[in-house]
This record gives sequence, structure tokens and C-alpha cells, in this order.
Amino acid sequence: MNASTPFATQPSLSPQQFVDKVIGHSETHSAFNNAKTCGFGEAPVNIALSKYWGKRETSLNLPINGSVSISLPGLGTQTELTLSQGEHDQIVLNDTLLEPHVTFAKRLSAFLDFFRPNEHAVFHVDTLNTVPTAAGLASSASGYAALVLALNDLFQWHLSDQKLSLLARLGSGSASRSLFPGFAVWHVGSRTDGMDSFAEAIDTQWPELCVGLLKVDVSEKAVSSTAGMQQTVNTCELYQAWPDKAAKDMELIQQAIANHDFSLLGKTAENNALSMHATMMATWPPIVYWQPESVAAMHAVWALRQQGVEVYFTMDAGPNLKLLFLETQKPAIKQAFAKMQIIQPFK
Ligand code: DP6
Repeated sequence: MNASTPFATQPSLSPQQFVDKVIGHSETHSAFNNAKTCGFGEAPVNIALSKYWGKRETSLNLPINGSVSISLPGLGTQTELTLSQGEHDQIVLNDTLLEPHVTFAKRLSAFLDFFRPNEHAVFHVDTLNTVPTAAGLASSASGYAALVLALNDLFQWHLSDQKLSLLARLGSGSASRSLFPGFAVWHVGSRTDGMDSFAEAIDTQWPELCVGLLKVDVSEKAVSSTAGMQQTVNTCELYQAWPDKAAKDMELIQQAIANHDFSLLGKTAENNALSMHATMMATWPPIVYWQPESVAAMHAVWALRQQGVEVYFTMDAGPNLKLLFLETQKPAIKQAFAKMQIIQPFK
């Protein structure tokens, strides 16, 4: 982040010191002695109901605001991890071996650098995504959460959920929330070592709640969320209002979840997403993730609401919509959006 922005903070640990502190690795105690042959991790994607947008510190990946999410069972990442030999990591994504210079592989290897038992160690990573990569369906969230679980399994660390969430956050902010099924809250934290910025589960079931995935375009997005939020923080005047707005929405969403107040949940989530997109559009050069079909789908949602079908949408850094509605509205929603995938996270 541009150090001149009012949100920037100085980290008191390097990322490596942060990782060592979380896994308990020191000069006298190795965290790598009990490695198994193969580690496995599996994690779901999550959708933020009140969004994370902006970092106060990039090396430890510390957010400017907290967020609340819901995980989607059945959609996510499965990762197998082994220690290997060779020049560099071997990263297999959906059965295809990636060239080490592609962005996905470089980001993953840079993250794995924090976890090498020695300087010659390389990893073989076999990762299977059941969501399209970089499609605004948060595959980095399930990806880094699954990878951290695989590391925890491989090295037999038996870390707490809180520690796993801290490590996943370092890989991708939204991954901190993908360790949990159901609802999760990612606390913004205030410490300069980043130790209080982790996610935890919100222990509430909501069986009637439905999430619809309305796919507009699942091709790779032009501006990654990492780059998009950096640009927003650095160049958007409207962004000044975002941290307070995000904090208020986060409270409202948690209240809505606790009281099963669907109208409050939907209204707050939709308004939060549109407010985040407003900050993206007001950066320079402008970032507009929407496509004409995205806007058409928004109008279709608003038209349904006018007809008394209570449905709301949320959107991340991409053109796709995620609809929120209750089970009673399922027939009407299915009729309006025939091809949509519907998930009931608690059923
Ligand atoms: C719009 O977690 O992908 O989906 O921390 O840089 O990896 P990095 O960003 P990422 O950003 C997610 C942004 C969002 C909102 C959200 O999921 O809260």
C-alpha cells in the first residue's frame, strides 16, 4: 500500500516471523520434524455478506475492515501436498501441471516459501477446484484455506482454528473465513503483528436460507481483487467513507443472523455490495466488474422484489451475482432464473 494513505500501518513482524510465531517454529524447536508423506486439506468457498475491501498492511495481509461470510458446502477446493525434490514446486491445478511462471503458481510458491523445512525443500501440490478459478466465486479463499489445512496435516501441527485462520489470511484475506462451515466473522484486529485479525465461526444454523449462483461470465477477471482493492484504497476519494460503512454493515449482518431477520440480512448485504462496487468505480482508472448481463440480472431481482418475491443479491470482484432468498421463494426464483444453481448451506 502507498504509505501516504491514512489507512497504512507498519507491521511489527515480517511475514516469516509471523508464520514462525503461529506454527511455533524457532531456533530451538522445529515445526517440521513430524512430517507425514502426504497432507490433505479441503475447504469450501465463502461469500461475504459484508465485504472485505482494502488492506491497511500488505505484507501481513491486514484488512482495513472486518467482514462476515457464509460458506457454500460442496463448492470448494481439495488439496494434496507432499514434500518433493527438484528445482521448483510442482503445482497441478485441476489435473494440469502449471508452468512455474504463471501467476497462480508464482503466488502459491511465494506463500509456500514461508513453510519450507529447509532451503532446498520443494512441494508437490495437487489441487482440485470445484469452482472456476478467478471467476469472482472466491476460489482463492477455498484454495488457501485448503492449502493451510494440507500443511497442518502434512507437518502434523494440530493448530487451532484461530491459528489456521491466521495462516490462511496471509495467503488470501477471504481464505481466513473459509475454514468454517456456515457463517463466519473475520475480525479486523488492531495489532501491528496481525495476531488478532482472524476469522471464527458464528454458531447459528439457518436451514431455510438459500444462495443462488447466477453465472454471467466465469472467465478470468481482468483486475484481481488484490490489485482492485489496492487501487481503490490509493485513488478513490469515496473510499474514506467505506471503513465506517463496512463496520456498521458488519454489525447489522450479525444482528440479522442472530435474529434470523432475513429482510435485514438481504437489504444490508445488497447495499454493502453496491457500496463496495461504488468505491471501485470511483477509482482511477475506473474498475467496473459488471457486464451488461450483470445489470440486467440486478433489474430482474429488483422487479421480482416489486412483485413481492423477497430476493436480494450480492457481488464480489466479478460479474456474477449471488442471490439470497428463503426456501419459500424457491419456486418463484427457479422460474425467474432457470439455469441458476441453488445451495442451502445448512441443509
Ligand atoms: C470482493 O480475499 O481475494 O471478494 O486478500 O488480496 O487475496 P486478497 O483478496 P481476496 O478479496 C476478496 C474481496 C471480495 C470481498 C470478500 O470476499 O470479502
